[in-house]
Amino acid sequence: MKGKVLQLLRDHRDDFLSGERISEELSCSRTMVWKYIDSLRKEGYEILAVSNKGYQLKGESDVVSVHAIESRLIRDSMFQHINYEESAVSTQISAHKLDAEGALAGTVVVANEQTGGRGRLGRSWYSPPDTGIWMSMILRPEVELREAPQITLVTAIAVVRGIEKATDIEVDIKWPNDLLLCGKKIAGILTEMQADPDRVNSVIVGIGINVNQTSFPEDVKGVATSLSAMTGKIYHRAAIIAEILNEFQWLYDTYLTKGFSFLKPLWEARAVTIGKKIIARTPKESIEGIAEGIDEEGVLLLRDNNNKLHRIYSADIDL
Ligand code: BTN
Repeated sequence: MKGKVLQLLRDHRDDFLSGERISEELSCSRTMVWKYIDSLRKEGYEILAVSNKGYQLKGESDVVSVHAIESRLIRDSMFQHINYEESAVSTQISAHKLDAEGALAGTVVVANEQTGGRGRLGRSWYSPPDTGIWMSMILRPEVELREAPQITLVTAIAVVRGIEKATDIEVDIKWPNDLLLCGKKIAGILTEMQADPDRVNSVIVGIGINVNQTSFPEDVKGVATSLSAMTGKIYHRAAIIAEILNEFQWLYDTYLTKGFSFLKPLWEARAVTIGKKIIARTPKESIEGIAEGIDEEGVLLLRDNNNKLHRIYSADIDL
């Protein structure tokens, strides 16, 4: 309900909205309206109250809360359960736990801070409080095991488009799970699966985005950046999260009904890897060559210096 009050205030940013009108629109008492307004103010929303006129939303700080996200989601959002944690070890761990307890597909865990954020290949993921987006989605797609990695690529498209919609900043995709801004890592995606030998039970997609950080630890300083570090502006994390979830919904729906090949052009349009000389480091070997593209299934096609074509399913890529 608080999210709906916020939504109404946003829809009427340029004028005042009376308490009476809000209570009518939401079928709740004036006292309840006041309580929601009070609670929104405590979360950092600047709401003007003028007698005989009503309320007006003046400013929004970078508040991440369930209703700050929900109030921006599309009407029939598939994300019906947003769980917010002030501090989580890792939203992946929280999501796996909820998944095991039978959480519905479309459940999302968002944390303000992670104390044990994890990245691909057992790496850690720097997740300080108040500055980044650390979130995991629980999905139950009806896809074959070999197709599940495509969900990383679908998510990458959603993150790129969501960031652009919320901030006007264009970021690039580096196969398979990195997002770059001016060549530095701005976001990463971690896709983990629960599966039987022949069936995917659930997929937990973790998304980490450096939004408002201004400094990084020594070990990642040279390779990581944030939206804020690039532009000097502070961005609203809840707005970015909601745009990503809204974008993800139609992309995921298209993916499930029409297949990844339908989304491939969207992925390619933002991929920096393609056509470039790269080194793909797999656990077995390092292969140097030209990244020719991805196939209909999202597998990277790499032509080595001896003209041999390799199909790369998983690797670290050096550009
Ligand atoms: C990578 O690039 O290595 C993937 C990084 C994924 C980080 C996100 S942050 C939210 C979710 N929780 C985690 O512990 N990891 C993912």
